[in-house]
Amino acid sequence: MSLRARINSPEEHGSRGEDGHLVSSYRAKLLEEIDLAEMSALAAAERRARLERVLGHIISREGPVLSTVERSQLIRRVVDEALGLGILEPLLEDASITEIMVNGPDAIFVERGGRVEQLPLRFVSADQLMQTIERIVSTVNRRVDESNPMVDARLPSGERVNVIIPPLSLTGPILTIRRFPRSFTLQELIGFGSLDEHMVFLLAGLVQAKFNIIVSGATGTGKTTLLNALSGLIPAHERIITIEDSAELQLQQSHVVRLESRPSNVEGKGQVTIRDLVRNSLRMRPDRIVVGEVRGGESLDMLQAMSTGHDGSLATVHANSAEDALTRLQTLASMSDVEVPFVALHDQINSAVEVIVQLTRFADGARRITEIAVLDSHGSEPYRLATVARFDAQPMTHDGRVYGSFQYFPLPRRTADRLYMASQPIPQAFGVAQHLDQLTTREAR
Ligand SMILES: Nc1ncnc2c1ncn2[C@@H]1O[C@H](COP(=O)(O)OP(=O)(O)OP(=O)(O)O)[C@@H](O)[C@H]1O
Ligand SMILES: [Mg+2]
Repeated sequence: MSLRARINSPEEHGSRGEDGHLVSSYRAKLLEEIDLAEMSALAAAERRARLERVLGHIISREGPVLSTVERSQLIRRVVDEALGLGILEPLLEDASITEIMVNGPDAIFVERGGRVEQLPLRFVSADQLMQTIERIVSTVNRRVDESNPMVDARLPSGERVNVIIPPLSLTGPILTIRRFPRSFTLQELIGFGSLDEHMVFLLAGLVQAKFNIIVSGATGTGKTTLLNALSGLIPAHERIITIEDSAELQLQQSHVVRLESRPSNVEGKGQVTIRDLVRNSLRMRPDRIVVGEVRGGESLDMLQAMSTGHDGSLATVHANSAEDALTRLQTLASMSDVEVPFVALHDQINSAVEVIVQLTRFADGARRITEIAVLDSHGSEPYRLATVARFDAQPMTHDGRVYGSFQYFPLPRRTADRLYMASQPIPQAFGVAQHLDQLTTREAR
């Protein structure tokens, strides 16, 4: 077997493989010849170029017989390992990969275009994986060990990293890296079939008329991406405050204040929560508050803000349907330290939440808006959700694709009036319900 085949071959790609020894011996020689301290001052690309050059000299000097391809592959692997993230380096460079999932040293999965695949790669050992993990988390001043076996961090380049190690993980150290999400315009999202022009027209009117909008969906359904695109519809003169756990939103307007929460440090001090930031933001004269994800007691503060004049707020919540989103906000608000009776929370939600946009990730990886619902109930009435747009899916085809079509329904009178008063046109596809029985509503508790 040629060296190239061995470098690429999964079976040989372990400590037992000859090339594993080759890589680690060249890595050791490389590290002997370079000055690491000096290297750290260089930009990443220069650092790599420098290492490649030095290693090229070493290989020429030692004189193993290699083809050009074998030589460049060997250089790449050695430099990848020397640079720290080893076999993860090329994955991080590959823009088509949106998520990297390492389930212990022997199983590396990636997500591309919404589909998950296993790669024929592995770490030499659990120890080597652990060293890589330590290198990743130490760049952001975090520590992972037995007393601190779960770590969430964000790399300077924006990637979100989660680590969980034994004994909590039963299959070795687990590393999940989510690439910093590319932002997409609404036009691009239309191109993906995530929504259509009619829905964009409606959503644009709702954002500009300052409706409070909740984007709801399960993990990875595209909530942040849609929130970002919707936030782009906020008029440029408004003062926007964004509040996030890990800053992902990329608003283009000029008057944007970006706040990011902070976990406690190694001594367990200095935590600043989303809730602290929501409260603080109210004293910053916001025109709009955009909350990346509501997942705790901040729900209460946000609902209060929404129902007391901070209209036009946008937030995401983790839920599987529009009614779930309401229940979830209510449950989260009840978790805050302020005791608010459940009934009062219900009223609060009825007056705060106006629109819910539900996202779903389909079996074929496509992310779509599956419902736009308007909350059309008041006070202590049961929640009444009026569907104004919906995606009706067809059964999955043989090649695993999901097709379907968007349907539109009339807007409740109150919604239409708000749009009218804000000089926003009523999109024709929807129209206005003249009678209650023209609405497509359902009740939820
Ligand atoms: N409409 C879309 N079409 C195709 N890909 C999308 C779409 N929306 C988001 N994505 C991609 O899906 C991934 C997850 O998106 P995003 O971070 O917005 O989801 P999320 O629901 O906010 O996830 P989380 O629950 O982890 O916060 C990203 O890689 C993003 O680029
Ligand atoms: Mg998100």
